[in-house]
Amino acid sequence: MAQIGNDIQIAKQFLETNEVVGIPTETVYGLAANAFNDVAIAEIFEVKNRPTFDPLIVHTHHIDEVRKFVTNIHPKLLALAEAFWPGPLTLLLPKQTSISNLVTSGLDRVGVRIPNHPLILNLLKSISFPLAAPSANPFGYISPTQAIHVEKQLGSKISYVLDGGACEVGLESTIVGEEHGQIIIYRLGGLSISDIENVVGKVSIELNQSSNPKAPGQLKSHYAPKVPLFIGDLAELEKTHSDKKIGALVFGKYVPTNKNTVVKNLSLHENFTEAAVNLFNYLREFDDMDIDVIIADYLPPIHLGIAINDRLKRAAWRI
Ligand code: TXA
Ligand code: MG
Repeated sequence: MAQIGNDIQIAKQFLETNEVVGIPTETVYGLAANAFNDVAIAEIFEVKNRPTFDPLIVHTHHIDEVRKFVTNIHPKLLALAEAFWPGPLTLLLPKQTSISNLVTSGLDRVGVRIPNHPLILNLLKSISFPLAAPSANPFGYISPTQAIHVEKQLGSKISYVLDGGACEVGLESTIVGEEHGQIIIYRLGGLSISDIENVVGKVSIELNQSSNPKAPGQLKSHYAPKVPLFIGDLAELEKTHSDKKIGALVFGKYVPTNKNTVVKNLSLHENFTEAAVNLFNYLREFDDMDIDVIIADYLPPIHLGIAINDRLKRAAWRI
């Protein structure tokens, strides 16, 4: 069992002895360790059961700290950093050698983020190294948005989870980089495409899906609950699965046709921010309930609806 608490000093002590600690951020909870220490990094992969070809995001508290371990920041990426850090934005930046290949899986760029959460920012200020941290879920499962999620799934393998309450964004960060002057989004996330385009103009979107992607979190099966998830017209899906216990994940008003269908509403008033916060929580809650299938329909593809649809699609994928 991991201890859950909000004591930065305890978290700091574990991190300084190269142990892995659960940390809150505004997006999802992370599994953090000293980004400058390969033993600590290896422990992250071990605890998460994560393949080492999947690189880690490095978290710090100030752009001046970022400059200490990247070689340069493209002006457009700098504009994004200035607009959205601290926040749900990860930038892929050319790394210095102080960032080991274990962190980047041998890639030349390192993913960097300044998270927007007072506890983690204070912790980062109090230590002399940045923190490498993937989401604190077992590889392939839904990301945790509360300290208790981390404890439940990884508690037997770590000592401490720093509890910063429920995550305010609920979706992982949007990952952005630059190639030949073009700004590219590699993972959709808690910062919307339109917010990014308001700062740097038109971006391209390259969500990698191959077995050796530039952003392997983009593997097709990801963020997946254990209960099978089907996506489509809800009324149709209720008919198709009428012999099963159904959990329906809905957005806006929906009246189920089957009286036994359990409904969870991402946002009754169709608010995308609220839906993002609820998405992973509800998938988890369904997973813990006695149901056979989860059904959901895509949200309108605007604002955070685009990133939410991406997560739904990956959660539904079955190989
Ligand atoms: O919101 C978030 O980004 C959370 C919190 C904890 O910060 N972190 C997170 O980490 O979602 P993770 O490891 O679950 O997902 C990070 C994604 C992975 O798909 C990884 O492949 C990609 O970022 N990534 C990290 N470093 C990269 C790099 N150098 N080049 C390409 N992709 C990278
Ligand atoms: Mg993850």
